[in-house]
Amino acid sequence: MCGIVGYIGKRTAIPVLVEGLKKLEYRGYDSAGVAVLDQQKIVVSKSVGKLVALEEELGEDFSQSCIGIGHTRWATHGRPSFVNAHPHSDCKQDFAVVHNGIIENYLELKDKLIEKGHQFVSETDTEVLAHLVEDFYEGDLKEAVRKVLATIRGSYAMVVLSLRDPDKLVAARKDSPMVVGLGDGEFFVASDITAILNYTRKVYILDDGEMVVVTKEEVKITDFEGNPRTKEVFDVKWDAVAAEKGGYEHFMLKEIHEQPKALRDTMLGRLKDGSVVLEEVDLTLEQLARINKVYIVACGTAWHAGLVGKTLIERWAHLPVEVDIASEFRYRGPIIDDHTLVIVISQSGETADTLAALREAKNRGARVVAVTNVVGSTVSREAHDVIFTWAGPEIAVASTKAYITQLEGMVMLGLYLAQVKGTLPQEKIGEIITALKLIPEQAQEVLNQEDLIKELAQSFVKVEDAFFIGRSLDWAVAMEGALKLKEISYIHAEAYAAGELKHGTLALVTEETPVIALATQRDVYDKTISNVKEVKARDARVIGLTYKGNTNMAKSVDHVIYVPETIDELAPLLTVIPLQLLSYYVSVARGCDVDKPRNLAKSVTVE
Ligand code: F6R
Repeated sequence: MCGIVGYIGKRTAIPVLVEGLKKLEYRGYDSAGVAVLDQQKIVVSKSVGKLVALEEELGEDFSQSCIGIGHTRWATHGRPSFVNAHPHSDCKQDFAVVHNGIIENYLELKDKLIEKGHQFVSETDTEVLAHLVEDFYEGDLKEAVRKVLATIRGSYAMVVLSLRDPDKLVAARKDSPMVVGLGDGEFFVASDITAILNYTRKVYILDDGEMVVVTKEEVKITDFEGNPRTKEVFDVKWDAVAAEKGGYEHFMLKEIHEQPKALRDTMLGRLKDGSVVLEEVDLTLEQLARINKVYIVACGTAWHAGLVGKTLIERWAHLPVEVDIASEFRYRGPIIDDHTLVIVISQSGETADTLAALREAKNRGARVVAVTNVVGSTVSREAHDVIFTWAGPEIAVASTKAYITQLEGMVMLGLYLAQVKGTLPQEKIGEIITALKLIPEQAQEVLNQEDLIKELAQSFVKVEDAFFIGRSLDWAVAMEGALKLKEISYIHAEAYAAGELKHGTLALVTEETPVIALATQRDVYDKTISNVKEVKARDARVIGLTYKGNTNMAKSVDHVIYVPETIDELAPLLTVIPLQLLSYYVSVARGCDVDKPRNLAKSVTVE
């Protein structure tokens, strides 16, 4: 989604804004722009494409102004273009606005403003904000913005810069993240902490319905009615270097390699004396006894983690689980009451559909547990209980380390529920924990096979379609493998439950179609191999994925990738890694933009 940054202080604003935008570019990258106040006018610079184009546009002889706003855009209303790039201004160029989100009633507001004589240049909803501020302005920028907030409907994080009130920035937030960075005689506003980490580690996290007036001297936070809000300073502990590429060619590869550490960090302090300790989850036996149904709700890759979670919770905690895509959940009328446990999974903790599902579930009395990677995210603040995945900032659009820690979160939550309910013998829990503790090391062993997978990837360069098959938990991982290949290499890929192929899809399998067959689940292994034989009989090239030590699979397929042996419920934590590496190297070999695949954004904060 779009990224926003604003600065007021003693430094030249443009380099601060551009640096901030660089850190935010992953949120959206079809265009970028900045606006600063310079010698009695607002100077706007914009460009289409990546940030480097904006840097070229700005050149070296840029304004030395110490106040400004910036934006990277991922198009929602209006196609990617120069005129649609932010910041947007009113007719007289007295106000400039950057915005992330959607103004739902913008067309109706635009018509009214046009009747009043306002002229619009873009197709965006954001431009309405600049004209509205101008329309409402009567000598006080904050008051004008307040009136705008009372007029608009939708989701937004916005920052307004004004020639008429040249010593301040006014920002507001509803359903879109926004933080205020606190420096010494300087302040920052941003949609994401990463944007300002180079300058400060002390931030205020704005809540929905809050606005802020920032001058060189102070930060004043109020609600939309103007009532003061007091906030605690949040001390960011992230390592700024963690958000850099660290020697790898792409963030995705770096993040794939960070998985052993992410797995280790996420289990830290949570596995003690053969038990799972989830201090953040406060579910008692009495409360759990009331739960008769579990929903897992998420989008995309996080939804795939949920599919694994379903099997684990059903198998271990004996609770019926449904897994829902968040954008479908609310509108299909799920049966939710105070006997329902809803688990939301979200790397960013800001995904609009997941957040909406969380709120709906809470309103209907459900207990909500969130699994998220971002401390201070809206999901983490609104859920009753939160399991943080300690994957660190994930920059590549394609999720890897966040997914693997979401799987780990599902394993620990499944065990925790079984532990509280007493549905698994303590000895069995201890056994699973012992196996789980080995996973980071085993993940490293899988990574050590990188060269082999890189070589295999070369045979995918000209491929147009690929299939991923598996049964049970292997099927869930197959879905994630197919998504990774689609999103970063643009190869059409589909995942099928291996036993389902013959009910239609087998018609598509030819010698041109590689099939990746996952076969780790021992209870269905023989059946999976029968399905592998079905595709082999149609001349497909089959790549098998199974445990080291399995000498059987090689007899039925063309190549085999091996992962270390573990208990079947933990196999997804290992089998996904070769699939991530395969997608990565296919993407590189096809010359695709690995970290920023076309048409996609890292954090999807609109429905
Ligand atoms: C794909 C990917 C997406 C996200 C999805 C949900 O690689 O990353 O499918 O998983 O957009 O995002 P979060 O987890 O932030 O809610």
